[in-house]
Amino acid sequence: MGFSLAHFSDVHLGPLPEGSAFANFSPKRVMGAMSWAFNRRQIHLPEIAEALISDLKNAKPDHIAFTGDLVNIAALSEFRRGVEWLKSIGPSDWLSYVPGNHDAYVAVPWAKSLGLFEGYMTSDLRQEEQFPFVRMRRNVALIGINGAIPQSMTRAGGSVGQTQRQRLREKLKSLRERGFYRTVMIHHPPAPGLAHSWRSLSDAAELKVILEQEGAELVIHGHNHTRTLNWLESSHGAVPIIGVPSASMIEGGSHETASWNNYEIDRAKGKWQTLVSIRQWQGQEKSFKTISEFELAKTS
Ligand SMILES: [Fe+2]
Ligand SMILES: [Fe+2]
Repeated sequence: MGFSLAHFSDVHLGPLPEGSAFANFSPKRVMGAMSWAFNRRQIHLPEIAEALISDLKNAKPDHIAFTGDLVNIAALSEFRRGVEWLKSIGPSDWLSYVPGNHDAYVAVPWAKSLGLFEGYMTSDLRQEEQFPFVRMRRNVALIGINGAIPQSMTRAGGSVGQTQRQRLREKLKSLRERGFYRTVMIHHPPAPGLAHSWRSLSDAAELKVILEQEGAELVIHGHNHTRTLNWLESSHGAVPIIGVPSASMIEGGSHETASWNNYEIDRAKGKWQTLVSIRQWQGQEKSFKTISEFELAKTS
């Protein structure tokens, strides 16, 4: 029997809690609150994210991967509400989370911000460091990377850092040797050219080299708010890099309509197989439907 993994991203949960723009004052946070008030508020609807979660739960996936940007301006009240929202989905061993740049929009104490989501980012391996965490579910391993570090006023990038990259390399190697289907979870796309330079990881090139050398069966990300599939050649087979739109985006908004992906992972005749189903929000019907289904295989 296959293993089903549901993937969504970039909830940007609204509305902004009252007073959040000016609590713990930061100019960038005020700017973000203005962007919310004049733009994002109309296109990121919490009711779409709610409908997405209920559609996803109907599918009864074996595990859920959420690739960051749960909050908007990293207000402490957003994290308190965010953890309640995560709890409403299900237990923390059923959902894995990696931080996005909006979760580190400004510098905030870990314990009062992302620390509240820690239950969703624990590792099954005994390790000192928080990231990359590794969660093993049957023959599928999820490797969660944190590329979210506070950026200047005009940047939406991030950085994984040398220590985490080295640990990623070791984990990819050992999990490959143990025969796991390795799924890398990261918020930003992990290779150069997949996001504008002001919105990209500073060490995307180094990450790409690690993926090329160690391979991975699946890499999933968010951040671009678009549906993408890119391939990377590696010494251990082609690596699919898949991005999903924002989980709360309306039809006809600034980016692609909300959707989530389901990956049905199977092993047959000594090979991994992944069936991808894309479930997209239908504004008229106020429900999600499958708009595409395909076997993950590099064709050219
Ligand atoms: Fe986002
Ligand atoms: Fe992002």
